[in-house]
Amino acid sequence: MKTAVYPGSFDPVTNGHLDIIERASKIYDKVVVGVLTNGAKTPLFAAEERVELLKAVTSDFPNVHIDSFSGLLVDFAREQKACVIIKGLRTVNDFEYELQMALLNKALDPNIETMFMMTNTKYSYISSSMVKELAAFKGNLDGFVPEKIIGKIKEKYKD
Ligand code: PNS
Repeated sequence: MKTAVYPGSFDPVTNGHLDIIERASKIYDKVVVGVLTNGAKTPLFAAEERVELLKAVTSDFPNVHIDSFSGLLVDFAREQKACVIIKGLRTVNDFEYELQMALLNKALDPNIETMFMMTNTKYSYISSSMVKELAAFKGNLDGFVPEKIIGKIKEKYKD
């Protein structure tokens, strides 16, 4: 059984993330989405909320599981018995950082591969940060995040 982990902050999950999750779920037997709980920034959504949002939007994918982790990604991947880390690449700007992370993770555990998936072009400019900025200025979130979670994001910015 081939298990992949797809890690991130998911603050909040976007349609770009969901697209990668769906495509990865067709390639691997099991995809574990790992929500980082101790990122450097103060998140908009608490880790438990991010997990709940992800569970809500992936409920149609039976081989996708949502979990949270803190500490090293390779430790989480090992715990999940995953042989692959999935990363999405949007633009060339993502590449340098992701290459560094992939090489570091490979040095930490040579048995775990990082596999990159190119984002769908229609989502290449979407990021969780952009979504938050848009929401803060009461912009329209349609098409950027799953419909199911638009209300939850708006709630965070209601005056
Ligand atoms: O969605 P993000 O914030 O770009 O995701 C970044 C993430 C969670 C993939 C990255 O920060 C990560 O892997 N963090 C875990 C700590 C770790 O293993 N760092 C690399 C070795 S120091």
